[in-house]
Amino acid sequence: MSVAETPTGATIVDYFDHNGPEYVRERYGWYREIMRDKGPVFWSPHYGGYWVAIGYDELMEAAKDWETFSSLRVLEEPKPGEIAYKGLFVPPRDKHQPMLEDDPPEWEKWREVLAPLFSIPAVKGWRGRIQTLADACLDRSIETGRIDFAHELTNIVPAIFSMEFVGIPTETYAEVAENHHKASHLQADDPRRQVALDGLAGERRLVAETIEARKTDRRSGVISALLNARDRGHAFTDEDIAKLGGLVIGAGIDTTSAVLGTALIVLTQRPDLRQRLKDDPSLTAQAFEEFMRYSAPTQGLCRTVTRDTELGGQKLRRGDRIMLCFAAACRDERQFPSPEVIDLDRRPNLHAAFGAGVHRCIGSMFARLEFETLINTILRRMPDYQVDLDAVRSFENVGVVAGYTTIPATFTPGPRLGVDPGIEGWPLKV
Ligand code: HEM
Repeated sequence: MSVAETPTGATIVDYFDHNGPEYVRERYGWYREIMRDKGPVFWSPHYGGYWVAIGYDELMEAAKDWETFSSLRVLEEPKPGEIAYKGLFVPPRDKHQPMLEDDPPEWEKWREVLAPLFSIPAVKGWRGRIQTLADACLDRSIETGRIDFAHELTNIVPAIFSMEFVGIPTETYAEVAENHHKASHLQADDPRRQVALDGLAGERRLVAETIEARKTDRRSGVISALLNARDRGHAFTDEDIAKLGGLVIGAGIDTTSAVLGTALIVLTQRPDLRQRLKDDPSLTAQAFEEFMRYSAPTQGLCRTVTRDTELGGQKLRRGDRIMLCFAAACRDERQFPSPEVIDLDRRPNLHAAFGAGVHRCIGSMFARLEFETLINTILRRMPDYQVDLDAVRSFENVGVVAGYTTIPATFTPGPRLGVDPGIEGWPLKV
């Protein structure tokens, strides 16, 4: 990895490493202190050096200016005079992710094809299915009075939904959920992480087989939509389609699971909030926005600076890397008064947890639908659940997504509804 020379005059925070173990425990304290003592943009010397934007206004400015802050990942070595575009991750990943690591106009090709699948009517069309999945999951535990929300619900529903949405068979949902989960929460040098990454090959195989099958037998879903677009003249390769399928599956699992976990934990700590949501389930929509702000699942993603520029009083150079720290911006008190307080009535609540600008999360309405359906179903069927707060475990590693590995809870047992989700192998415990 090439080492960027520390920029002259840069505000340096030498302990800031978003992949390090201290970050998992200390990050919100760090954001607060750094914002107060150093400012909204600073330089971390790790991984060859990168900027970090933690201020709301500064992050928004960068996220909305894709020409200066590029998402591109170019795998070839740059020619003399060119800069290295390193995509969304620090350190950079060895593959290019279509759409997420493209800039317009290339990015537009993907977004245009996917947009109808993520439209309001399309999302509404999934409401019944998400409800069925929520009830089927709760049926597995409802008579026992015990559940681990992370393993038995919040990882599972987003995984099955994502697989169905992309259009691949769902029998291996438990494996897919677990592998995505482990790949994002275990430390990079943990051997179990490599096992999980290898396990994701099973998902890639399913995607590849589905692409073959859908070439002659179109159905609904992301894969068929991309093949239809190819028929209309879009130059998508099978490999591109497979990577896009993988992105859509992966992007919505741990992220959605994380915000659900935060809400379930907070609603144990704050009976007043739980009562409000029970009394008025329509409040869950605005509660979702506040839980997203309070504990943004996606901590941060990076960009490559394409021209010399200034941000937050720092001088950024062409070719520098910068991390846009969504979770920190969501706690910037210049934008959100008393940011550490969960306030369901917070208005405006223009949080940054879904990003901003052209790459703003295309799946945000699905995340909201899953959140509303699952939280309201739990409050209806397990209204007195109590999370064992001492037994909750967070991700060992954050890097990109911060969530929970275990959320054990107890509740007064209730009746099964006998809901059949129509998934082969159900119920399959992880
Ligand atoms: C709480 C849940 C979620 C969070 C926190 C989240 C967060 C994000 C963020 C921050 C971005 C912006 C990336 C950037 O600026 O570079 C993004 C993009 C994206 N998200 Fe989500 N997301 C969530 C749920 C979902 C779901 C459910 C799906 C799919 C069904 C999804 C699919 C995507 C895709 C495909 C992109 C790329 C968009 C583009 O590059 O134009 N996300 N997400």
